[in-house]
Amino acid sequence: MVTPQSAFPLDPLGLGAGFAQYFSGRPLVFRAPGRINLIGEHTDYCDGFVLPAAINRHCLVAVAGNDQAVLRVRALNLETQAEISCTQFVRSGDWRDYVAGVFFALQGAGFPVVGCDLLIASDVPMGAGVSSSAALEVALVQAFLAAAGAATSQSAIASLAREAERAFVGVPCGPMDQFISVHGQAGHALLLDCRNMEARAAAIPAEAAFLVVDSGVKHKLTDGGYAQRRADCEEAARRLGLAALRDADEAMLARAQLPPPLDKRARHVVRENARCLAGVAALEAGDLAGFGALMRQSHESLAHDFAVTCAETDSLAQICAQTPGVFGARQMGGGFGGAVLALVDALAAEAALAQICARYQPPGARTRKALSAPSPMARGRFCHEQRRTAPPPQPVDRGMDAGLAASLAKTLAGGRGGARARKFADP
Ligand code: GLA
Repeated sequence: MVTPQSAFPLDPLGLGAGFAQYFSGRPLVFRAPGRINLIGEHTDYCDGFVLPAAINRHCLVAVAGNDQAVLRVRALNLETQAEISCTQFVRSGDWRDYVAGVFFALQGAGFPVVGCDLLIASDVPMGAGVSSSAALEVALVQAFLAAAGAATSQSAIASLAREAERAFVGVPCGPMDQFISVHGQAGHALLLDCRNMEARAAAIPAEAAFLVVDSGVKHKLTDGGYAQRRADCEEAARRLGLAALRDADEAMLARAQLPPPLDKRARHVVRENARCLAGVAALEAGDLAGFGALMRQSHESLAHDFAVTCAETDSLAQICAQTPGVFGARQMGGGFGGAVLALVDALAAEAALAQICARYQPPGARTRKALSAPSPMARGRFCHEQRRTAPPPQPVDRGMDAGLAASLAKTLAGGRGGARARKFADP
C-alpha cells in the first residue's frame, strides 16, 4: 500500500511542535499503529483465534487540556476541525464519533476526563482494512488519560478503545484491532486466543514479506454487513447450544444441519479457526508455501461461506496469487472491500508489487494514483516497531509534572510478551 507523501508531521516531535500553530498550551504526543491480520478473519467475536501484526503506519495525537468543557480538534489528514461537547455525546456519523466516543467511554468507565485541544495526524489508510480507527482510538485513550493526569494498564487501554468503537461508533467489533495496536511487537505476529486473551508471539521469517494492496473499494463497518455477520454467528452458536462458534466442530455442523446462511457462516468460522492454528505452525516452521495455501483457502471461505468479499477484492486476490514470488493472498479485515494481504518472498516483493499494480484495474482514479508507485512492505520496514526500539510517545512538554511523567513513562513502557503465551486480561 502506498501512501502519498504527507504534508504534515508524522513524528511525535514534529506534531508536538506543530500544535502551536493551532492551539496554545504544551502538548503531550501519543501514537498507535494500524495492523495487518495474517489469518483468522471474523473469528475474534466468536471467541476464536487471530494472528495480527502491528504495522509501521501510525496515528498520532497531540493533546493539551484547555480548561473548558469542549474538545477542540484539528484532524490534519482530513484537513478539518471540530468542536465537540464534553457534556453530552451527540452522534455525528463521522470521524468525530471516535473522538467523542473515546472521551465518553473513559468517562463511563470512571476515569477522570477534561476538556482538551487535540491535533491528530495519521498515515494509516482509512477504509482499507488496516484498522485506522483502532489506531485513532488507542492514541486517543492515551491522550485523554494523560490530559487528565490519569494512567492505566495496556490491556485496559485496548479494552477502553474497543468500548468506544462498540458503544459510541456503533460497530460491534471483536477485540483484535485494539489489542494489536497496543501490544504489537516488532517482527512478530501475535497468536491471540480471543476467549481468554492469551497471546503468543510468532516470529515472521526473515524471507517473508507482506504486501498490503488497497482494492480502492472503501469498506465501512458501520454499514450493517459486519453487524449482520456477527449476529449470524451468534444465532448459529445459539442453535448449536454453544457459548460461541469457537466451540463448534465440523461433526457438530454436519449433525445440526443449520439453515442457510447460518450453515455457511458457521463453517467459515470453524475452518478459519483451524486455518489460524495451522497457519501459526506453518509460520513458525518457515513453511511459507503452506501458509500461502491457507491464505488462499481463507479468501475462498470469506468469498463463498462468509460472503464478505467483493468483485474487486476477489480479482485482486487472484492477481496477487498468480504473481511470481507470491505464496498466497486474501482479503483482510472486516471486508466488503478494503485491502488484500499477500505473502511474498521478501526478495521478490518489489517486483511482485509492481506486477500486481500493473495488472489490477482499481475502480477509482484516487486508488490508481495510490497504487502507482511500488512499495515493498518488506519485513523490518513493514513489521512495526512500536515501543521497544522506537521512542515511546513522548511528552513534548518540558515542564510536565515529574510524577505524571513518571507514571506516564511506566504506562507507556508497559510489559511486552515474550515467546511464551501471556495473559492480557481485561480491566
Ligand atoms: C474488523 C473488526 C475486528 C475483526 C475483523 C474481522 O477489523 O474490528 O474485530 O472482527 O473486522 O476479522
